[in-house]
Amino acid sequence: MAILVLGGAGYIGSHAVHELIEQNVKVVVMDNLETGHKKAIHPKAKFYKGDIRDRDQLVEVFNQEEIEGVLHFAASSLVWESMIKPVKYFDNNVYGMMVLLDVMNQFNVKNIVFSSTAATYGESDVVPIHEDVSTRPTNPYGESKRMMEQIMKWCELAHGIKYVSLRYFNVAGAMRDGIIGEDHDPETHLIPIVLETALGKRKHVTIFGCDYDTKDGTCIRDYVHVDDLIQAHILALQYLIAGNESTVFNLGSNEGYSVKEIIETAEIVTGKKIQTVLGDRRLGDPPILVASSQKAKNILGWEPKKSNIEQIIYDAWIWHSKNPNGYRE
Ligand code: UFG
Repeated sequence: MAILVLGGAGYIGSHAVHELIEQNVKVVVMDNLETGHKKAIHPKAKFYKGDIRDRDQLVEVFNQEEIEGVLHFAASSLVWESMIKPVKYFDNNVYGMMVLLDVMNQFNVKNIVFSSTAATYGESDVVPIHEDVSTRPTNPYGESKRMMEQIMKWCELAHGIKYVSLRYFNVAGAMRDGIIGEDHDPETHLIPIVLETALGKRKHVTIFGCDYDTKDGTCIRDYVHVDDLIQAHILALQYLIAGNESTVFNLGSNEGYSVKEIIETAEIVTGKKIQTVLGDRRLGDPPILVASSQKAKNILGWEPKKSNIEQIIYDAWIWHSKNPNGYRE
C-alpha cells in the first residue's frame, strides 16, 4: 500500500515525501511541475507528472498503484495572486478537489489529509484563532480552501471519505541539511525575500503597509517550521488510518511576529544588514493571523520542536545560502 502525495514536488509536499520515505512508507507523487521542482522529489518516490484536474491521468495513477491514503498539497496558494486571478484559484483548487474526491470514491480510497489555510478565517476578532472561530475569508484563495473543506464534508457524508483539514499559518524554514527548501518563481513570501536580500540578490525588502492597527504598524503572522508541519501530517494520517473522525486542526506556533520583527531577526541570524523600503498595503492581506494549535496538540499529540522564529529563519538561511539559485544550476 502507498500514500499518494499530490503536489509532492512543491515546497511543503517535497518535505512530506522526504519524511514519509524516512519512515519507510511507500510514496507515490503526482505533480504538474507548474510550481514544483523535479529535483525536489525524493528519488525513492514513484513520480507521475500530471494535473489532478485531468481525470484520466488521476485514474491512471489510482489504477497503477495501491493507494491507502492521500496527502493533498496540489493547489495555488498566493493570497495576492488570488485577488487578481480568482478563477485560477477556483479552477485549480476547487475543481481539482472535485475530481480528486470523485476518483477517490471510485477507487474506494477513504483517507485524505488536506492542506488548508489560515486564510479561511479572514479578519478574526479572536486572537489567537481557534478552530471554532467563524471563517470569513478576505481573498479568493482562502475562499477556495473553505469551499474545498465544505466539499470534503459532503463527500464524507455521501461516500465515507474521512478527512483531516490542516489550516496552516505561515510555513517557513527548510530541512536542516539544505537538500530541499523553498524555491518559488517569482518569490513573494516574506522570509525567502528577506534572506535573498541578505544574500545580496535583492537590493531591499518592500514592507507592504506600515499603517495597520498592530504594535509597529506592519502585519503580524504566525510562522511554523515546515518540519513541524509535516510531523502533524504524519500524525493526521495515522489518526485517520486508526479510524478517527474527520476534523480540522490549526497548525501554527501560537506566536505572532510583525514584518519588521522578521526583518530584525533575520539581521541577527544572518549577521547582514537588510535594507527596507516602505510600500503600500498588499491586496487581500489580513492584519493579524495568529493560531491556537492547542487542538492539534491535544488530539494528535503534535509537539512542534523547531517553530521558534530564530530556528525557522536559520534553517531557511542554510537552504538559501547553500542554494542561492534554488533548484536551478
Ligand atoms: N510581506 C512584505 N513584503 C514582502 C512580502 C511579504 O511586507 O516582500 C508581508 C505581507 O504583506 C504579509 C507578510 O509579509 O503581511 C507575510 O506575507 P507572505 O507572502 O510571506 O505570506 P502570506 O501571509 O501572504 O500567506 C502565507 C501563505 C498562504 C497562507 C498564509 C496563512 O502564502 O498560502 O500564509 O497565514 F494562507
